[in-house]
Amino acid sequence: MGKMDGVKPISGTYKPPVKPKLLDKNGLRLDGRKADELRPLKIEAHVLNRADGSAYLEWGKNKVLVGVYGPREVHPRHLAKSEKGIVQCRYNMAAFSVSDRKRPGPDRRSQEISKVASEAFEHVVFTERFPRTTVDIYIEVLEANAGTRCAGITAASVALVDAGIPMKDMVVSCASGKIENTMVLDLGKEEDNFGQADVPMAIIPSTGDIVLLQMDGELSKDELAQAIEMNIGACKRIYEIQRDALKRRYSVGKEQEEEEAEEERKKEERKDGEGKDRDGGAREPGPDQSAKGDDWGDGEKPAPFDEDVGEFKENKGGESDG
Ligand code: CDP
Repeated sequence: MGKMDGVKPISGTYKPPVKPKLLDKNGLRLDGRKADELRPLKIEAHVLNRADGSAYLEWGKNKVLVGVYGPREVHPRHLAKSEKGIVQCRYNMAAFSVSDRKRPGPDRRSQEISKVASEAFEHVVFTERFPRTTVDIYIEVLEANAGTRCAGITAASVALVDAGIPMKDMVVSCASGKIENTMVLDLGKEEDNFGQADVPMAIIPSTGDIVLLQMDGELSKDELAQAIEMNIGACKRIYEIQRDALKRRYSVGKEQEEEEAEEERKKEERKDGEGKDRDGGAREPGPDQSAKGDDWGDGEKPAPFDEDVGEFKENKGGESDG
């Protein structure tokens, strides 16, 4: 074998990573957050054209894309249930999503996350409305930095609504844990690696039901209760961000509808005007060009759905029983 120029030889002894100080003297975390502070979170609904529903999420340094299909025929067929539909969630981490190359394909961890996420969604999707079918949720983690199961579940909820899947409510997910003997919300990567415990959780905000609760590490009973409480508080904030993503998506839809209606109205008016001209009648004044701007001023943009969660459960084609 020839010499491999430019390739660094592997030499020296392995040095385990050194635990950084996770909290400074002011109680601030490595990224400057307070104990109960979430990493920045943004969600966008309907980012894919081929999927029935989709969402893209960035949460801290996590990047997650979700595509939803269904209700559709089950493959393999023996998984189909005659009395109700099934929800199949597949969580996958891209090979380039972590700093060490991740072996592509399913591993034990991704199978576990897929299973717990599927079970969480079975609690909200009205599966009895579409027997013998499946709703398939594909969670693709593009960049991972701790909390990816929570990020995936949170994004998948938005994608399910975008697909028009009939649901009781969205599922919201967040984790909290313990670092340097202190309970903190939404662990980052170093906190997850060097911390004492991690408690990912998912809830249905409108009912308060907990649909996912896991724990890694050790906590006292009181600390676990504190972690749950922190997660519930955070989930309420995250729920608003999910809803905002949907509102943005649906206001655009409304805008287009209005524009089309306006176009139709103009056409009708042109037709009327032409008729009158031929008859020698006075032309009707055209539609007020400023009206559109006024109607759609940001402050006045109509909400796509009311505060009632029920409004967006029942949107689009998925409402059908089929
Ligand atoms: O991502 P989540 O916190 O839900 O799950 P985890 O099993 O606690 O993993 C924590 C983090 O470890 C992930 O978010 C990744 O950043 C990292 N990880 C990794 O680097 N390589 C893997 N094969 C799995 C996870």
